[in-house]
Amino acid sequence: MAGINYSERIPNNVNLSENRRLQRALEEWQPKFLDWWMDLGPTGYQEKDVYLRTAVSVDAQGWAQFDYVKMPDYRWGLFLAEAEPGRSIGFGDHLGAPAWPDVPGEYRGVLRRLIVTQGDTEPASVEQQRHLGRTCPSLYDLRNLFQINVEEGRHLWAMVYLLDAYFGRDGREESEALLQRHSGDRDKPRILRAFNEKTPDWLSYLMFTYFTDRDGKYQLASLAESGFDPLSRTCRFMLTEEAHHLFVGETGIGRVVQRTCELLREGKTDDVRRRGGLDLATLQKYINFHYSVSLDLFGSEVSTNAANFYTMGLKGRFEEAKKRDDHRLKDATYPVSELDGDRITTREIPALPSLNERLRDDYIADCQRGVDRWNQIIKKHEIDLELRLPHRGFHRAIGLFAEVKVSPDGRVLSEAEWDAKKHEWLPTETDQAYVESLMQPVTERGRFANWIAPPARGVNGRPVDFEYVRLA
Ligand SMILES: [Fe+2]
Ligand SMILES: [Fe+2]
Repeated sequence: MAGINYSERIPNNVNLSENRRLQRALEEWQPKFLDWWMDLGPTGYQEKDVYLRTAVSVDAQGWAQFDYVKMPDYRWGLFLAEAEPGRSIGFGDHLGAPAWPDVPGEYRGVLRRLIVTQGDTEPASVEQQRHLGRTCPSLYDLRNLFQINVEEGRHLWAMVYLLDAYFGRDGREESEALLQRHSGDRDKPRILRAFNEKTPDWLSYLMFTYFTDRDGKYQLASLAESGFDPLSRTCRFMLTEEAHHLFVGETGIGRVVQRTCELLREGKTDDVRRRGGLDLATLQKYINFHYSVSLDLFGSEVSTNAANFYTMGLKGRFEEAKKRDDHRLKDATYPVSELDGDRITTREIPALPSLNERLRDDYIADCQRGVDRWNQIIKKHEIDLELRLPHRGFHRAIGLFAEVKVSPDGRVLSEAEWDAKKHEWLPTETDQAYVESLMQPVTERGRFANWIAPPARGVNGRPVDFEYVRLA
């Protein structure tokens, strides 16, 4: 394929124009990616102009260039964060050794698995969200949805770059397989459960971007510590984009809470549903569901894999460099949940096998910050109610708590108690049908669906009523 201007077609800072082998691999893969995008990417709107940001370089001017683009023409690029000269490995058995510019032979299989597992989540979320365009609450929200979709597409590219550039033939096969597994597919599902769940409505989507994308932030942040330098640099750049996805989730749910409070204050009744809004009890159930499903993504409390990834220098802790300990953790301990009959207690266990739990703890603290901000909104409206995160043992399918039923306030329940109460804690079919009934598209400039407040400001300095997607 002589004559392709690679920096034009595929913006990059990985020297693509000089890497023939990588060019060839991507030339084979790119048309398959585009087929996947047309088949399983956003339904409708592919011909429309969308006001999107594209990364054309990693510096301050280049990483977010805004313009109208048709999604299939989006320039998915390959970017690594700037190299840190003289970077050394920050933890594990290789602590202090120079970071690896290439895959260490003995860790090849493990690293490939880590990259594939991360890569698999990126296209999965695009598949989960593909029908949402039809029921958008505004052009502003529609644009944000598509921004996230194209960037998750780019995150897939980021992982495919690593596979193609560093893992030879196995890597190319894995790159193909990333387009062959599909969210919810019975025969070839995505690797992780949360990525096979449905994202049927915009409330679920906002919860997903708040809770499930946030798992992504923590996974990426710990891979950004990796001794394998290309992985570290790839993840560091992905994190800059991920911040926007989390922003969409946090402000999106905040706007729903805001609108709910307005409806409560305006009306003489507590029945927000009669006024076409989302009542706080329903929001709480959706929080319970998405939070618990996302907690599972961190894996078991006690995990030899987690210990190995760390000692091998492949996956660090969240903000490893800021921690003031020996970064080897051979003698350290960490408190982990434990079941003592029907009581939940904690126990100190060796720090290495508890690294999943530690990352989950960091995640939980981060989740709580957004919930606090939502509660501020409720308080400002002088409404006496609080949203809260359920206990970590609630509705879990992986790890210690998979064996028991736990209430949102952390009591171990009998099956009968659980069955009698679960409709109060998790969305029921009636709740889902109600949420679905609210999902009527609003596509007039500057207008918003009744169940969500407008955002405080528009995108990239544009007004809220900007034509974020040109439908004509
Ligand atoms: Fe992503
Ligand atoms: Fe994301």
